[in-house]
Amino acid sequence: MQRQLSLNVLVRPEERRRTLSHDARHGLSRTHKQIPPTWFYDETGSRLFDEITRLPEYYPTLAEQTILAERVADIAAATEADTLAEIGSGTSEKTRLLLDAMAKAGTLRRLILFDISQEVLVGAAEALGRRYDVEVHAVVGDFRRHLSSIPQGGRQLWAFLGGTIGNLVPNERVRLLSTFREQLGPGDHLLVGTDLVKDADRLVAAYDDAAGVTAAFNRNVLTVINRELHATFDPHLFDHRAIWNAERSWVEMRLRSRVAHTVTIGDLALEVPFAEGEEILTEISAKFTPHQIADDLASANLLTCATWQDNGGDFQLTLAGPQPSAASSPDL
Ligand code: SAH
Ligand code: AVI
Repeated sequence: MQRQLSLNVLVRPEERRRTLSHDARHGLSRTHKQIPPTWFYDETGSRLFDEITRLPEYYPTLAEQTILAERVADIAAATEADTLAEIGSGTSEKTRLLLDAMAKAGTLRRLILFDISQEVLVGAAEALGRRYDVEVHAVVGDFRRHLSSIPQGGRQLWAFLGGTIGNLVPNERVRLLSTFREQLGPGDHLLVGTDLVKDADRLVAAYDDAAGVTAAFNRNVLTVINRELHATFDPHLFDHRAIWNAERSWVEMRLRSRVAHTVTIGDLALEVPFAEGEEILTEISAKFTPHQIADDLASANLLTCATWQDNGGDFQLTLAGPQPSAASSPDL
């Protein structure tokens, strides 16, 4: 059974090229070079991320899945949601647990999947559309710009899983949560997954696995820029590095140039010089305390309704709802 599946492509190739051009030009012209992690996820990057989720060192996916398996019935009951909107949905593997619970509660009507990576998104939307009796809307969009295009209506549960919120710096994080808040109506909810602070050795191992899958994932961003902007990066001239920044409470992934050399980005007519040992920051992955999560949500006018952790205390799921805005309060 496959009900109608709608596909809304907000990031067309030209738009994607424009945004990547902007991010590469600005990020690689700075004193401390950087590329936003959004560009990891072409078809190869999404496949490598999927491999990462199965690595013995990478605990977050299994920890989040364990919490979901225990709590989905509570989440379905507390939200009574008929629409599940997943942001940065990827393969939507864990999402099946939520959909099963909503279907069992008899509320499930509609599924909205939103991701920048069209291939993985369409694959997930088709698979879930075959498995569940739901309307499926797949939206190819950038969560930094396109969230207002998510179809409205129904009683919505937005899910932002995997700890992806941690890939944003604090001001971007609160801005994104505030956009979520603006899109949620009274009675709607947000479910957000966050990785928690823990022992530095475990954190570094999770981002520098023995099999080298995370290293390949990290270097893949250079291949994306080569292909899409006609650049001349040699990924093998860059070493993968994962560092725990205790002061900022985040893991940093970097690519360090082994030798002094210059890379040309053809489409930008840009020459990017690298000194030996010079690094590009490709990702931060923030690790939270429960207090920090509640604070960030509160800064975005989202009220924490419930929190759940796995037994090891590695990961947290937080269910939040919109705080009634001051404008809707009765005048006293
Ligand atoms: N939620 C899944 C996937 C996490 S990987 C899980 O928990 O396993 C991060 C996902 O976010 C990828 O699928 C990637 O394509 C998507 N993504 C990254 N930056 C994005 C952006 N700016 N807008 C939309 N999706 C983005
Ligand atoms: C998607 N995101 C939450 C992952 C993380 O852990 O920050 C991406 C990742 N980077 C390296 N390994 C996994």
